[in-house]
Amino acid sequence: MAFPASFLDELVERNPIEDVVGQYVNMTRRGGRLFGLCPFHGEKTASFSVVPDMGFYYCFGCHKGGGVINFIMEIESLSYPDAVRFLAKRAGLDVPEDEQYQSQYRRQERLWGLCKEAARYFHAQLYGPAGAEGLAYARKRGLSQGTLTRFGVGFAPNGWTGLLDAMKQKNYTEEELLEAGLALRHQTKGTVYDRFRNRLMFPIIDVRGHVIGFGGRVMDDSTPKYLNSPETLIFNKRKNLFAMNLAKKSKMGRIILVEGYMDAIALHQYGFDCAVASLGTALTEDQVNLLSKYTDQVVLIYDGDEAGQNATRRAMPMLEKSGLQLRVLRMQGAKDPDEFLKKYGADRFKLLLEGAENQMEYQLQALARKYDISQDDQKVEFLKATAELLATVGNAVEREVYGTRAAEAAGVSYEALKLEIQKAVTRRQRRDQKKQERIDLAPADKLRPKSRTIRYDNIKSAMAEEALLGQILREPALLDQVDLAPEEFSCELLGRCYGQLREQHRQGLQVRLAALENLTPEEMAHLAGIAQKQQGPVSEGAMRDYVDTIREERRLSQAKGPEGLMAIRDAMRAKKGYGG
Ligand code: UTP
Ligand code: MN
Repeated sequence: MAFPASFLDELVERNPIEDVVGQYVNMTRRGGRLFGLCPFHGEKTASFSVVPDMGFYYCFGCHKGGGVINFIMEIESLSYPDAVRFLAKRAGLDVPEDEQYQSQYRRQERLWGLCKEAARYFHAQLYGPAGAEGLAYARKRGLSQGTLTRFGVGFAPNGWTGLLDAMKQKNYTEEELLEAGLALRHQTKGTVYDRFRNRLMFPIIDVRGHVIGFGGRVMDDSTPKYLNSPETLIFNKRKNLFAMNLAKKSKMGRIILVEGYMDAIALHQYGFDCAVASLGTALTEDQVNLLSKYTDQVVLIYDGDEAGQNATRRAMPMLEKSGLQLRVLRMQGAKDPDEFLKKYGADRFKLLLEGAENQMEYQLQALARKYDISQDDQKVEFLKATAELLATVGNAVEREVYGTRAAEAAGVSYEALKLEIQKAVTRRQRRDQKKQERIDLAPADKLRPKSRTIRYDNIKSAMAEEALLGQILREPALLDQVDLAPEEFSCELLGRCYGQLREQHRQGLQVRLAALENLTPEEMAHLAGIAQKQQGPVSEGAMRDYVDTIREERRLSQAKGPEGLMAIRDAMRAKKGYGG
């Protein structure tokens, strides 16, 4: 939907980009910019920048960029209108909404409310007379009191209308229970009855804390083992992960991804509060995105059976492609993490987890095998390679621990190795610094369109168009001096952007990239890339030059139309001496 320009202007004004981005990214100021680690791709040196004065962000690494609305779209995985609403809420603004959206949102809120009430009802049942069997089963599975509470585990009694009746009491209608996937309508009789009966109930909660659905487990070997909520207005099993609401608060610095509800729950109970489970489907792109929003390291532990290993093979490239650091852990001596924890305990699991993580040890051993350290020259090479590897370890204590071990293995003093490590660390730091300097001074022509959907047919004109937009963004008053029409631009996107900026200016609004509408994320990123270029001083003279170039190039390329082509061909013939 389209929002009024004046509303977008105020929205952007009230959501300063440095504040909004600052809630997700730690940044330090350098000159007129803030730099931090890019939240959209994994990186160790900061190539993500925010230019508060011009209201946009840009990452030199992954080339994402845009205004504050794009940032929210990207980082919260929201559609454009939802990102606008998100920011409006943040700034306490009322959104001029259409009726349809309002009614849809009200329906969502009703269903969230209903599912929360249902979860409360199930949880209460677990401790009532109807839930005795459920509670016994939960205990048999080793779920502690604390776990039952933390996960809101419940029980759906073995009647037909237990939930239905309780929810009606709370003023929810049969229609709403059907819509939330909590009830079913009998095909022939037309009566409505509870979907979940005689099952242990696990509420599924999204990252914002809304109960959106349930998984219900039978207490014996009957099938289906789990009955899950169907897709509803609020529940999409491909977009959510079980226990993500808890794992996102974990301080463990990674997320453990498992297959089963019971695996995730057991991990939490044993202290691994960063575990999440998919919801009975293969891992999806949306879930990968969700993971990368909250962590940069995923430990994948699927079941040891063939299905689990196949799923692992499918999930690995998806996780790696997204820039997540990935470790894969194979359960040894148990079919899944739940069983492993019960059989061997948390300490043993922790060892396994650290083993999966401890690539350093492995790499050091590989180096020791590679060199014959009884030979002096090889020993020197070994020390160099080891130092180079250890320099990649961020933490001095770890460097020392591994360094001592490696030195010992090679039969040299740690002091000798330490010196090499020091040198390697300094070299690395210098490299990083240089890289940053190059980024800071990126020449303008480095930023040709990175995306495949944006093309420059006339590079010379497009460069002038870019420069002109750059000038306008820095000095909007210059718009009064320019009589160029958007159609005169060689690049449709740049022309469209120019047209919208000019419209903002005409309406007396502030000229901002961030308030532009109807741009794809790619287009917005491209524009932010242009805005961030280091350009010459703002001047009317420069503006005139750009306008002249754009017009001249347009004339030339039009001349290359049918008539122009003939003229060029004639000229060529004449040159080659073909005559008339
Ligand atoms: P599992 O069979 O491994 O379940 O299926 P689990 O969570 O480890 O349960 P326990 O330990 O046997 O009690 C993995 C996941 O696949 C989905 C569920 O999300 C389950 O957690 N699933 C499985 C279903 O949706 N329906 C089923 O019938 C079975
Ligand atoms: Mn299992």
